[in-house]
Amino acid sequence: MSQPRESLHGQWSSKLAFIMAASGAAVGLGNIWKFPYIAGKNGGGAFVLVYLVCVLLLGIPIMMGEILIGRRGRRNPAQSMALLSEESGHSKKWQWLGTLAILSGFLILSYYSVIAGWAIDYVFHAAKGAFLAKNAAQIDSLFSQMIANPWTLLTYHTLVMLATTVVVAKGVESGLEKAVYVMFPTMLLLILILVGYAIDTGYFAHGLKFLFHPNFSVLTPKAVLMALGHAFFTLSIATGTMMIYGAYVPRHISIVSVSLYIAIVDTLIALLAGLAIFPLVFAHGLEPAAGPGLIFKTLPLAFGAMHFGRVFATLFFLMLVFAAFTSAISLLEPSVAWLMETYHVKRARAAWVCGIAVWLVGLGTVFSFNTAKNWTVFGKTFFTGLDYVTANIFLPLSGLAIAIFCGWLMKKEFLLAELGCDDGLMFACWRITLKIIAPVAVGAVFLYSLGILG
Ligand code: PFF
Repeated sequence: MSQPRESLHGQWSSKLAFIMAASGAAVGLGNIWKFPYIAGKNGGGAFVLVYLVCVLLLGIPIMMGEILIGRRGRRNPAQSMALLSEESGHSKKWQWLGTLAILSGFLILSYYSVIAGWAIDYVFHAAKGAFLAKNAAQIDSLFSQMIANPWTLLTYHTLVMLATTVVVAKGVESGLEKAVYVMFPTMLLLILILVGYAIDTGYFAHGLKFLFHPNFSVLTPKAVLMALGHAFFTLSIATGTMMIYGAYVPRHISIVSVSLYIAIVDTLIALLAGLAIFPLVFAHGLEPAAGPGLIFKTLPLAFGAMHFGRVFATLFFLMLVFAAFTSAISLLEPSVAWLMETYHVKRARAAWVCGIAVWLVGLGTVFSFNTAKNWTVFGKTFFTGLDYVTANIFLPLSGLAIAIFCGWLMKKEFLLAELGCDDGLMFACWRITLKIIAPVAVGAVFLYSLGILG
């Protein structure tokens, strides 16, 4: 290829806009809901350390590869992989891996939207003072009642998908960028306020110790592999998001520096979320290893017993809604770009078609908590099955494909041109990571999650 390609759907207006949009995609339910509970369940410090190593050694290199493919291809993930593969003298069939990434994002959004809906419901509960002076059984029943009511879940799922579709329909600069400019800094401010509130409990040191004091005796092989899987999910790797967001990155921006910023912001926010949550949990003698119920059951119990608990609980769940929303829009964009390019559909129409399709698939998740909770295949409901297939099969496979694609398939000169660096030691380390280290590590997670290892 002689001429660099131009993006078909516009560009980020600045480096900051891209960093915010991509960090907004990365920071989400994974950071605030999932990270604290899996860290809590796996003993804290040692798990956190392994997770940090995974982000540094595998997450950042693969993210760089994904953004690179996007920017060089300037098309939707499937088409970009097809173009780049041909450019390096290989088969166009690699596009199927791009398609798999797009499909993963589409399917993840279908349940992500339902869970984001829980957070909206909890903003209202918190604001009404529903957690005040309640015991554990009462708080548990609040949660069970919410998920048992299909109408509640349906209403919020519809609301999240409507808002997501409206923003994506407006396009890169007027939709995605404007939304993150408002929501991302607000979310950041809210989390800092909440950390301040946690410091005030007098149990902050307990939280710090829990997150940063490594006790390797509690670290299991399963936890190591969970840390790796989570590093992918939290950085939004392997769902086409970083590829499509990369397609809108102006040519003068350094992929290495933006990838570092995104990973640092994402990691800091996960740690801050832990520091906002665990001191409250410890201050009330509650259980840090409560699992998925940590923020929907344990935390409301703590808020309910604290000064200004009503205000801070409302702010907490509001922060969660904002974090989830900037991820939701990033999950829809790859499918929308794919539809626009493949069938020459205008953005608004493509956004509505994809939004409605995701909404329809999401109904499966809505009903899997109530009316269809006994409909299982291999012991999994629609929601748990979808979560399993996307997180444990699709994401590792796509992550593996991206590493192999950049490491083995793409010509070195193209990689160097896109990264704008010399053929020196750093480049060699990056390439070896993608060629060997990442495939071996990701392959291990994949086999493990299929039950073949461990
Ligand atoms: N990274 C998001 C989170 O941590 O919640 C989840 C996510 C968003 C995964 C976008 C994948 C993605 F493409």
